[in-house]
Amino acid sequence: MSRKFFIHFIISFGSAVLILGCSQTPEKKSLTTEQKIDSLLSLMTLEEKVSMIHASSSFTSGAVPRLGIPEWTMSDGPHGVRKEHGRGWVGSESPEYFATYLPVGVSLASTWNPELGYAFGKVLGEEAKYRGKDVILGPGINILRTPLNGRNFEYLSEDPYLVSKMVVGYIQGVQDQNVAACVKHYLANNQETDRNTVSVEMSERTLREIYLPGFAAAVKEGGVYTLMGAYNKFRGQYCTHHEYLINKVLKEELGFDGAVISDWGAVHSTMEALKFGTDVEMGTDLSQGPVKDYGKFFMGDTVISLVKSGVVNESLIDDKVRRILRIMYRTKVIGGGDRGAGSFNTLEHQSAALKIAEEAIVLLKNEGNLLPLNKSAVKNVAIIGANASRKQGGGGGSSQVNAKYEITPLQGIEKMLFENVQVTYSEGYEVAKDSKPNADKIKEAVEAARKADASILVCGWIHGYTDLWEGNAYDAESVDKPNMFLPFGQDELISAVLKANPNTVIVIMGGGPVDMTKWIDKAKAVLFAGYPGMEGGNAIGKIIFGEVNPSGKLTMTFPKKLEDSPAHAIGEYPGKDNVVHYNEGIMVGYRYFDTKKVEPQFAFGHGLSYTTFLYENLQLTKGDNQSVVVTVTVRNTGNRAGGEVVQLYVKDMESSVERPAQELKGFQKVFLQPGESKDIIVTLGVDAFRFFDEKKMEWVLEPGKFQIMAGSSSRDIRQTKDIEL
Ligand code: BGC
Repeated sequence: MSRKFFIHFIISFGSAVLILGCSQTPEKKSLTTEQKIDSLLSLMTLEEKVSMIHASSSFTSGAVPRLGIPEWTMSDGPHGVRKEHGRGWVGSESPEYFATYLPVGVSLASTWNPELGYAFGKVLGEEAKYRGKDVILGPGINILRTPLNGRNFEYLSEDPYLVSKMVVGYIQGVQDQNVAACVKHYLANNQETDRNTVSVEMSERTLREIYLPGFAAAVKEGGVYTLMGAYNKFRGQYCTHHEYLINKVLKEELGFDGAVISDWGAVHSTMEALKFGTDVEMGTDLSQGPVKDYGKFFMGDTVISLVKSGVVNESLIDDKVRRILRIMYRTKVIGGGDRGAGSFNTLEHQSAALKIAEEAIVLLKNEGNLLPLNKSAVKNVAIIGANASRKQGGGGGSSQVNAKYEITPLQGIEKMLFENVQVTYSEGYEVAKDSKPNADKIKEAVEAARKADASILVCGWIHGYTDLWEGNAYDAESVDKPNMFLPFGQDELISAVLKANPNTVIVIMGGGPVDMTKWIDKAKAVLFAGYPGMEGGNAIGKIIFGEVNPSGKLTMTFPKKLEDSPAHAIGEYPGKDNVVHYNEGIMVGYRYFDTKKVEPQFAFGHGLSYTTFLYENLQLTKGDNQSVVVTVTVRNTGNRAGGEVVQLYVKDMESSVERPAQELKGFQKVFLQPGESKDIIVTLGVDAFRFFDEKKMEWVLEPGKFQIMAGSSSRDIRQTKDIEL
C-alpha cells in the first residue's frame, strides 16, 4: 500500500496532520521529533498502540490509519531484497521483484574494504525503498564460532574487530537511503542446531570481548535504527526478551534508542517481552498455515487486557511505540520530507555487485604461479563441477533472493575465452541428497581434464533447502552442516581430476571452510569464492585469467580438520540438554589457533595476490589517551597493480590474565601500481590494548610492553615492534 493512500486518512484528522509534519505553520514545524511523538501518543488509543507492536502480516507490523501511520514494512536481507512474500508466505515469481543479488555477508567481509560495506548497503537501501520496504533485515553479524553453522555465509567473520569495521558502512549505506537497517541476531546465535531452544553459557569477558563488539559498533558507530533479537537463549533467558542483554546492555549501556524486533516467532512470553525490551513481535506459525489473527500474538490482545486490568503500566507500551515512531520519523516514513523513490536493478547496482565480488574472492594457494591462466595460450578448456553451473541466489533460507540474473562460474569463465577455444563441461558429481561419488561422472571429468590445456574445477558447498534435504542443507538456515567434508563425492572427484591434470585450478564456493586434507597437497591453485552474488561468475572468470588481481582475505580460519577448531576441541557443540557452554571463552578462531599453536590449513587474514608486497619501516609513536600511531610503508614489488590488506595485530607481552597470542586491532586496504609505495598510518586507540576485567567488570589497560605486528595475514607477519604503555 502506498504512502499516498494513507494521506487520505489523515485529511480528516487535522491535529495528526500537524503532528506528522505536513503542516506549513512555522510554530508546528519547530516541534522536535520527540514532541511530535508525545502528541501522537496522546492521540492514540491503547488498541492502536498495541496494534503497532506486533505483526499484521508476514512482514508488516500494524498501522494506525486514522493518524496517518502506515504499516511498518520489512524484508530480508541481508544480501539482496528477499523474494517477495506478500502478506502471507506465498512466494512471488513475478519479474518485477527480481533483485540485485549481492555477494553474501562472508564475501563482503572478505574484501576487508569498509567502503564496499557502504556501497553494498546503498544498493540494498535503494532497492528496499523502491520495493516499499521500511526496514531491511540485515546485516547479520554473528561471530563464526564453528565452521558448521549453516548461516555462517550470512555473517561476516570470526573476529569482532573486523565485524565492527565492516558493519558500520553497511548500516550507513542502507540508512542514508531512509531505510532502517536491522542488525541481527542479538546475541550468540552461533549455531542453527537447536536454535529455538538452546541456551548459550559464556563468561562476561567472552561476551564483552568477542560476541558484543560488533553489535556495540552497529549501535554506537553505525547508528543502527533497529536490531533483531535472536532465537536462542542466553544464560537461560530468551534473547528476544532479555533483561540483561536488551534492557541493561543494549538500551541502557549502549544507549540504543531504536526498536528491537523479534526474530520471527522468537517471542515466548507476553510479560517478558513487555518488560525485557522487545518492541515489535514478528512471526507466523507456518505449521498452522499463515496466521490470520495477529491479535493472538504474545504482544497482541493480551496486552490490552493486561493494561486495562492494571497489571501492566501503559508507559511500557508507550516506550515501544515511541521507538517505532522515532525510526519512522528518521526514515521519513512519517513526518513528510522527501524520502526518495529508490531504484532497482540499475547498472550501478550490478557494477557494485561485481566490484564487491572481485575484491571478495580469496586466492588461497598458487604454487608455481599457475594462476592467472594466459587466455591466449588456451585452446581446450575443461570446466568441471556442478557448482560451475549452479545458481545459488535462491537458496539458503530467509536470505533467498530472486536474482535479476546470476552469472554462473561456467558462464563467467566462458566469457573470458576467445571464440575458437573448445570448452568441455562435465558435472563431476551429482547434487542430490546423500549422493555418493559417481564413477561415470568422475570418469567423464577426468577424461576432459586430461585432454585439456586448462582445467578448472568448481566445487564446494551449496545452499540447500531444508525442507527437501531433511537436515543436510549445508549453507542454509535452521540446520548446521553435518561435518566439514565436501558432500556428493567431491573429494574423490578432486583427487581423480588432480591426478589426471595436476594443473587443475580448484574453485571452492560456500560459506566457509572444507576439509581439504585429502587433496590439498596435490592442488597447485585454489580459490575460495564464497557465494559471490549475481556477478560472481564474471569475477571468478576475470580472476582466473588475470583481468582482476585477487585481493580478498579470509575472515575466518580454515582448520585442517573440524576437531582442530576451538568450539569442537575445547568448547561444546551443539551442547547437551539444551545448554551449550562456550568453554573456549575468548579463544575463538585465530585467537585459539595462534595461542595454542595449532596449525591451520589457511590462516585468518590469508589471501594471495598476483603481485608481491614488501613491508618496511614500521614505526610506533605514542598519541593522546594511550593511543599508538602506527606507520608502515608498503611497496608493490611485483609487475602488476594489486591490492593488499595491511593487518595490524597486538600482543600484550605481560598480563595478569590469559590473553590471545595476537589480536587484530587495525587494518587498511591499499591499491598500488607496480613499484608504487604508500605509508599506511593507523591509530590504535586505547581499546586496542585493553581486556575486560571480570573482577572489576570494566575494561582495563595493564601498563607494560605491547608488541605491534604488521602483516599480510595473521600467520604472515612482516614487521614487529614493541612499545611500553
Ligand atoms: C530468520 C531471520 C529472518 C526472519 C524473517 C527468521 O527465520 O532467523 O534472520 O530475518 O526469519 O524472514
